[in-house]
Amino acid sequence: MNHQAIIEKAFMASKNSYSPYSKFKVGACVEMNDGKYFMGANIENAAYGATMCAERNAVYGAYCNGYTKKDIKLLAIAADSAAIVSPCGACRQVLKELIPDECQIILANRQGYKIMTIKELLPMAFTEENL
Ligand code: THU
Repeated sequence: MNHQAIIEKAFMASKNSYSPYSKFKVGACVEMNDGKYFMGANIENAAYGATMCAERNAVYGAYCNGYTKKDIKLLAIAADSAAIVSPCGACRQVLKELIPDECQIILANRQGYKIMTIKELLPMAFTEENL
């Protein structure tokens, strides 16, 4: 998928956001090497800590359907916010383990996007190699 197409899918996913507390709708789309894709949205809870972010829902969806790290090609995260959306620390930690280091991560708002890798988002990560 080209960048604009996957960003559009992420924005479509954000329509399913359940975010009555923050009112901040986020959507994500992860594309597989075989052309399939999985979408996710942030799902909040009155017990705030039980909230799940859009990008984790998307990547967990891929794994739940039998895909693993090697199958993941591209990830887009989108929110209609003033600043380009920036993944939280917990998501960075999860992405480090579950997507390839070289995978492009597209961070988007309605005005534009930037492309990062997980190494840029989470340098000197704690991984299984540190155990
Ligand atoms: N959120 C995401 O889903 N992804 C991000 O990258 C940033 C934050 C969600 C979590 C919460 O539901 C809301 O945005 C406000 O923090």
